[in-house]
Amino acid sequence: MTSNTITKFSVTTPIYYVNAKPHIGHAYTTIIADAVCRWHRLLGEEVHFLTGTDEHGLKIQQAAEAQGVSPQQFVDSIAPLFEHAWDRLNIKYDDFIRTTEPRHAVGVRKLLQACYDAGDIELDVYRGQYCVACEAYFVDDELVDGKCPIHNTPTTYVEEENYFFRLSRFEDRLLKWYADHPNCLTPGNRLNEVIGFIKSGLNDFSVSRKTLTWGIPLPWDASHVAYVWFDALANYITAIGYGTDDAAFSANWPVDYHFIGKEIIRFHCVYWPAMLMSAGIEPPKGWAVGGWLIISGEKISKTTGNVVDPLDLIDEFGVDGIRYYVLAEFAYGSDGNFTYEGLVSRYNSDLANNLGNLAARIATVVEKKCGGLGTAPAADSVLASAAATAVAETSQGWANVQPSRALEATWSLIKAANSYLEQNEPWKMESGDAVDRVMGDALEALRIVAILANPALPTTTQEIWERIGLTGNISDSRINIDTVWGQYPAGRLVAKGKPLYPRKTV
Ligand code: MSP
Repeated sequence: MTSNTITKFSVTTPIYYVNAKPHIGHAYTTIIADAVCRWHRLLGEEVHFLTGTDEHGLKIQQAAEAQGVSPQQFVDSIAPLFEHAWDRLNIKYDDFIRTTEPRHAVGVRKLLQACYDAGDIELDVYRGQYCVACEAYFVDDELVDGKCPIHNTPTTYVEEENYFFRLSRFEDRLLKWYADHPNCLTPGNRLNEVIGFIKSGLNDFSVSRKTLTWGIPLPWDASHVAYVWFDALANYITAIGYGTDDAAFSANWPVDYHFIGKEIIRFHCVYWPAMLMSAGIEPPKGWAVGGWLIISGEKISKTTGNVVDPLDLIDEFGVDGIRYYVLAEFAYGSDGNFTYEGLVSRYNSDLANNLGNLAARIATVVEKKCGGLGTAPAADSVLASAAATAVAETSQGWANVQPSRALEATWSLIKAANSYLEQNEPWKMESGDAVDRVMGDALEALRIVAILANPALPTTTQEIWERIGLTGNISDSRINIDTVWGQYPAGRLVAKGKPLYPRKTV
């Protein structure tokens, strides 16, 4: 029996708090998720990419109060800034969920009710510390010098009647699930952290707040609103139909990866699967856990006050310049030191000098020596094997959610093509077969590079595509078909154009 089933691939980003406009840290996770999705589209998979905004909770209520507007007015003014930033950064999401949307409230209430009916939510009294910036409760020994371990800011003592999710009942089930799914976390070393946390003993967590009004009322007790994390985590299922479209939900759950930052691993890898298990829903297939972008040793965050607006960098480096820097510079999973000098140096070396130079050289020589028309590659070119290796290793890098490795592999082909030109010096040759052959090989390498680099550089690879005379949308290419050596067609007009990546000085 043959099967025509198209592989599905779905990912989510965290939904970002709308207490302020997006910064480069938010953009980092979103760009990674976008590039991974673009790669999977090039594989011909049916991709679903969900992002959105987290709009309830005390932090938002306080931010609105500080501006003297209602929480709804406040979130309505900030959420579009995220949509705008993602559009400017060329983020191709399929759905953007705001937790103030009716579809979300319906699903959150259904999930709460399911856990309540399963007997896993009960009334109790909470006494302890709360960090508003994290929207998280801490036990005393988690505090560092009496302060929040993430934000290094004072916590608030809270004592109130809350509904609790009986997380403590899920230790064995969670450990069994992780034992059965040993590859669910990437990078893999995060698994030990999660298992260690579960084994250290799980405390029940509060799922409601009585003193807060800005949230979704519990279906069985409207004097409480849902705790913002319970509300927020549910976005991953409410967006795809949980509570509103059961067929769509079952067709699209579980997702392949939740992309998250390392500070929210406990919510995502312990609370969330337990909540789902309680409601009779399968946990997600996996999580891709990123490190932080840091500046001078501190996490970039609103609380620290060291934010960089990604949009401020676009005028100088182009959208693709920013995307490329964060994708290529930092190994996904580890912290990365974000510096202006690092951005300039990465841009100059990889984009201006390597890729930009290759494209410019090719166009110049084709114009001077080949009458401006591209020539055909040779089947036995030395670049053919460099291309095959680059395709295989780039594929591996994206499959492992290691964009920096994938791009390094793609850049190996750029370097091979530049060396090939330097060795053959077609600019010194007379027009004729020899130069045509060298340029055909170089054009073919550039065509393959453009496809492989497309997830990172969607705008400039389209530009390269057109400059070498190819038509249509480069992102409609398919890796397994279109990266096979030997397909660049002779006779296409090759245009030089302005430098793709003008060099920068610090
Ligand atoms: N609203 C919660 C998430 C709920 S998901 C159900 C939240 N929001 S947040 O606005 O604080 O964004 C958190 C995410 O933004 C992090 O997990 C991470 O993916 C990203 N980042 C925020 N600052 C970052 C850095 N400085 N560096 C890298 N990523 C960062 O937590």
